Amino acid sequence: MALIEFHGVQKAFGSKVVYRDLNLDIHEREVITIIGGSGQGKSVMLKMLIGLLDVDAGTISFDGQKISGMTEQEYAPVRRRMAMLFQAGALFDSLNTKENVAYGLREQMDMTEREISERVRESLEYVGLPGTEETWPNDLSGGMKKRVALARALAMRPEVLLYDEPTTGLDPVNVTRIADLIQHLNDKLDVTSVVVTHDMDTALAISDRIAMIHDGYVIFSGTPDELRASEDPRVRDFIEGNAPVDEDTETLLRSAG
Ligand SMILES: Nc1ncnc2c1ncn2[C@@H]1O[C@H](COP(=O)(O)OP(=O)(O)OP(=O)(O)O)[C@@H](O)[C@H]1O
Ligand SMILES: [Mg+2]
Repeated sequence: MALIEFHGVQKAFGSKVVYRDLNLDIHEREVITIIGGSGQGKSVMLKMLIGLLDVDAGTISFDGQKISGMTEQEYAPVRRRMAMLFQAGALFDSLNTKENVAYGLREQMDMTEREISERVRESLEYVGLPGTEETWPNDLSGGMKKRVALARALAMRPEVLLYDEPTTGLDPVNVTRIADLIQHLNDKLDVTSVVVTHDMDTALAISDRIAMIHDGYVIFSGTPDELRASEDPRVRDFIEGNAPVDEDTETLLRSAG
């Protein structure tokens, strides 16, 4: 049985249709990567999953329970089982690393100061930043900030980790480091990892399975080897880097002259 199931999901914003008929199963403990061009709905998929956006039709299930359409109150215990590393994974500049990592613990968990310190220490260790509790966001590199944001997500001990563009904007060394970390944590912590990325190299390197979104549907899902072997021209264009720019980008480029 799948841990997470999108079934017949439809989603539009006004006249902009993002999902026509989204069907996707995500299995326990796999690393699944969602690929697709800019504006195809990758972030929207994650936001629907963690309840930040509603579906227009269809259902999302988690661990056998229908979670789409739940009230905020019904959803709260579900959300606690997932943690998301946001695309713009911002840290609070006014808080040091320890307090950034402790943020969700203080908000949502009933823990003593000692337990919080211990959980923060352990989480920073997982992301390869032991002993950095007293540093400040402005003194950290982009790659380190991402890792602190990841430690903040891990501190909640989630069963599902959602990563929105975890490697975007990082230099190649840090891209590799984050990619390795996603895989390592997936194994070590027995979590399910859903990774959204444009970056084909990362997708091919870390995934048990890859799903490609195009025009409101999942047009491919399979292993990295199956993706490499796909003869679907839309898949080939994407992996060879010839994907046509989406409408939003086209409009932007046109208006920029
Ligand atoms: N809250 C919202 N209100 C209106 N339109 C939205 C909203 N969120 C997303 N959209 C639109 O839905 C479409 C899909 O957006 P989404 O952010 O999921 O794309 P994406 O695949 O994550 O793209 P990128 O790779 O650039 O991050 C885009 O056209 C976007 O403009
Ligand atoms: Mg996005």
